[in-house]
Amino acid sequence: MKVLFVCLGNICRSPTAEGVFRALAEREGALRQGWVRGIDSAGTGDWHVGSPPDRRTIAAARQRGYELGALRARQVTAQDFHDFDLLLAMDRQNLAALQQLRPVAGMAEVKLFLEYAECAAVDEVPDPYYGGAEGFEEVLDLCEAASRGLLTSLRGH
Ligand code: 4NP
Repeated sequence: MKVLFVCLGNICRSPTAEGVFRALAEREGALRQGWVRGIDSAGTGDWHVGSPPDRRTIAAARQRGYELGALRARQVTAQDFHDFDLLLAMDRQNLAALQQLRPVAGMAEVKLFLEYAECAAVDEVPDPYYGGAEGFEEVLDLCEAASRGLLTSLRGH
């Protein structure tokens, strides 16, 4: 299973999801055992291509032990629908953008990431870019909850 996390800029939410899910997948042996074979993130927009995650994203993640500083933003492509099995959108705007981009023969499944978050009060990861520090903590909380659910779901397959 190869998973791609998708947000708008690929500098806040989806890099957080990528780093949190990778840490959990490594801890659970999913990569070593081969039932997770790829983890990446991308943005539907191109403004930040080549940039590291937002400094607030890196700092908040580092506080919880996730290292995101080496990540670089890229834009999602039609090829991603062939290269990944599951494309997980952070919100409905990203979901709609992915559905527009999907090539006819693209096989990847496209879903909202928070479908995997048990007990979450929301079904979209709010964009923290124009808000305060608490928004970055909420992104981490939601990514941790959904990553746990996603890993449980993938383990069952
Ligand atoms: P992200 O956050 O989609 O979680 O990476 C954003 C980052 C940048 C912008 C919007 C959202 N922007 O408009 O530049």
